[in-house]
Amino acid sequence: MINLFDVYSLFDIEPVRASGSYVYDAEDKPYLDFYGGHAVISIGHSHPHYVKRIQDQAEKMVFYSNSVQNTMQKTFCEELEKASGVSEYDLFFCNSGAEANENALKLASFHNKRTKILSLKGGFHGRTSAAVNVTDSNLITAPINRGFDVSYHNLADIPALYKDLEKGDYCAVILEPIQGIGGIYEIDDLDLQKIKHACNKTDTILIADEVQCGYGRSGDFFAFQQSGIRPDVITMAKGMGNGFPLGGVLINSVKIPAWKGMLGSTFGGNHLACAAGIAVLEVIQEEDLLAHARKLGEFLIHELQQIPEIKDVRGRGLMIGLEFDYPIADLRKHLLFENHVFTGSSSNKKVMRLLPPLTINHTQTVDFIKALKKSITATTK
Ligand SMILES: Cc1ncc(COP(=O)(O)O)c(C=O)c1O
Repeated sequence: MINLFDVYSLFDIEPVRASGSYVYDAEDKPYLDFYGGHAVISIGHSHPHYVKRIQDQAEKMVFYSNSVQNTMQKTFCEELEKASGVSEYDLFFCNSGAEANENALKLASFHNKRTKILSLKGGFHGRTSAAVNVTDSNLITAPINRGFDVSYHNLADIPALYKDLEKGDYCAVILEPIQGIGGIYEIDDLDLQKIKHACNKTDTILIADEVQCGYGRSGDFFAFQQSGIRPDVITMAKGMGNGFPLGGVLINSVKIPAWKGMLGSTFGGNHLACAAGIAVLEVIQEEDLLAHARKLGEFLIHELQQIPEIKDVRGRGLMIGLEFDYPIADLRKHLLFENHVFTGSSSNKKVMRLLPPLTINHTQTVDFIKALKKSITATTK
């Protein structure tokens, strides 16, 4: 008998189909998805344009290796530039967020030959070898992962971080411009600028982990963009494929030039993944989803700030953290089982994460607020 390796705490719900902002169980009961399936759903579940592109591509060709020409990868780059406004980077395709960060750290170390990494307290960068070592969690880091030195700095003490960085012995700084799993903490624009400045002075590579906060979630395509900085390396995944496993690394190739064999992946950038990824970028542009996320986010944040039980509302666009002064596990359960709304947790037990599809509409947002108020009342009686 083969059993599933029992690593996930599961809710007793099985979605069997999905559409737009809803997932449905076998009885066709709708659940409003304010979790985006873990920040993954960018353009809405099973968007018709996305489904069509994947279907058409599956009929033509699903996969061939990275040893031949694949024009779809170039089309992807063009669409990414148009949708993001980011230019003068080279793209390496991979399949997940951890893999993107793994490659980013390798690139940094190839560049300056150093091995020590500066990371932030509360940060999460994945569960693979180097990515987990720069993640602030002893629990999920195995002895084999501790192959290089990592210093974790507190964002509340930027002068200490800055001073440490200026010693000049760090290979890279890795950070999420808006910390996701940590509980939705934004890095101040000025702090990002200072960190980038210190990186430039010391030839340290700045890696912006946009796996969760990127791809329009913050209302900008990348969350770092409002600070005006230019990271040396940008990692992305989650929203990139809207559910299709797809990751990428954007690299300043003037600073870190490619050489044959430097990185590689069997599945990265395959034909089906490109079809999914191109469809996502087309929909983001066609439906003006960045402006939509900004506008709806402002409305949502304003409404949430009126709820007295919520002590702090944080975030930007459709990446929102709600801090209560009590643990939110029961509240989330009530929302899910009584009001049929999915929300996200965070490593701070008192913080709920809201990460709906970027296509969520005004009515669904109002429905969410009503459901949240009902569940707050029911769980605090
Ligand atoms: C900021 C950030 N980086 C990296 C990862 C790892 O991504 P994946 O689970 O696709 O490996 C995550 C996953 O939640 C994330 O939130």
